Amino acid sequence: MGSSGLPRSGLELAARAALASRSAGRLRLRAQAVDAPAAAELGTGIRSDFPVLDQRVNGRPLVYFDNAATSQKPLAVLEAMEGYYRTTNSNVHRGVHALSARATAMYEAARDQVAAFVGAGESREVVFTRNASEAMNLVAYSWGMSNLREGDEIIISTAEHHSNIVPWQIVAKKTGARLRAVTLTKDTEELDMQGAAERPHEACIPLPRVQHSWGSEPS
Ligand SMILES: Cc1ncc(COP(=O)(O)O)c(C=O)c1O
Repeated sequence: MGSSGLPRSGLELAARAALASRSAGRLRLRAQAVDAPAAAELGTGIRSDFPVLDQRVNGRPLVYFDNAATSQKPLAVLEAMEGYYRTTNSNVHRGVHALSARATAMYEAARDQVAAFVGAGESREVVFTRNASEAMNLVAYSWGMSNLREGDEIIISTAEHHSNIVPWQIVAKKTGARLRAVTLTKDTEELDMQGAAERPHEACIPLPRVQHSWGSEPS
């Protein structure tokens, strides 16, 4: 049983076994090795939280996997958004009236909550952006352009989406840093970081904590 009290899925058990066999010097990625309920239980447990899933497409209950592009919103989020627009909507950090003060307080409270959730040292480390592409561009063009120089290396993986490749290609071209990509091993289970770890150069490694296309995470 997982910590959720539900039986572990076959996928999770396989991922845990693979994880237990990890070798030194390699960064292994594992698929969904979390205490997740089996897919069938997700249907009853979580499906009802997402009103958009309450429909049939091609004669079958809708299943939606394109979350990296546009994520569906659970009822709690839809209600919070509607409540905000009904009662509070106004300028954040750019008004002195009551609604603006309230909107600003809510916005900053959300930043505090996100900081606590991701384990940030301080709330001001959390910067809200419109999407992943904007966030990666921001890091690459601010930190990357100020800190990378000729001889440095930028190490990405071949499993990345364009939003985590193109900004680094541009920064590499402008700074003279060398862009390298680590590949997935044959069974696509792990990223071979051995070579990357042995490089003598300063390296920037913009790899995600959880790989969102594969649902894998480094361990
Ligand atoms: C797999 C994947 N990763 C990243 C992105 C970029 O995300 P965003 O739209 O938040 O910039 C997308 C967008 O479609 C995507 O499909």
